[in-house]
Amino acid sequence: MRKIIALNLKMNFDYEEMNHYLDVVTNKISDKNEIIFLPSSIYLSMFKKSGYKLGAQNVYYLDKGSFTGELSPSQIKTFGIDYALIGHSNRRLLFNEDDHLINSKIKGCLKNNLKVIFCIGETEEEKRLRKTALVIERQIINGLKGIDIEALTDVVIAYEPVWSIGSGKTLSGPDIEDSIKYIAKIINKEYGIEPKILYGGSVNKTNIKSILSINNVAGILVGTSALDPHYLVSMLDMVD
Ligand code: PGA
Repeated sequence: MRKIIALNLKMNFDYEEMNHYLDVVTNKISDKNEIIFLPSSIYLSMFKKSGYKLGAQNVYYLDKGSFTGELSPSQIKTFGIDYALIGHSNRRLLFNEDDHLINSKIKGCLKNNLKVIFCIGETEEEKRLRKTALVIERQIINGLKGIDIEALTDVVIAYEPVWSIGSGKTLSGPDIEDSIKYIAKIINKEYGIEPKILYGGSVNKTNIKSILSINNVAGILVGTSALDPHYLVSMLDMVD
């Protein structure tokens, strides 16, 4: 089955480096899987030529107005971008984005037919306190509050345990499978649909194949392993 492979480049690369990165990856990754690049927004236009799908790393929730420095869902959509990443732990933890703001952002995107990659996941502390299930449920219920069931088909969930991001630590295969099952159950009970769920957190050459073969994993969200373009191309070759 075709998997979603979302590549979150975060706040990396100066202009020259980005040009070099694009030279290396353009035409090198097959479209057997759905590849989505999420570069810094100023580079989105450069990526357009590559033909890969694109996502914005952040978005505001209103369409226009005096919100200096923000990008609106309609700007992103009409510019030809397919996805917006919402709820990433960097935004939740470093920029104090709460469930309410995340919910508004998701609604703003869906109103503009912009697809959403909606990130959820527990911190190390929450895991230690055995609050993972509660946290995930709260993030899902609050994040998707008031959204029409039909619009939910444009939302892909990305489960990323925060302690796993950039740390080299991942959940075991059976634990990933259980987490995905748990998330699917919450959404199914609440909305009666089968969501697409990605896994993220330290995906690399060693674990990519096994993670993508876990039951019901619709794809992956990758950070660090997407930063070296040669490494990325050879990693994605493995799952062609
Ligand atoms: P990582 O990042 O692959 O470096 O763990 C994933 C993410 O932040 O989305």
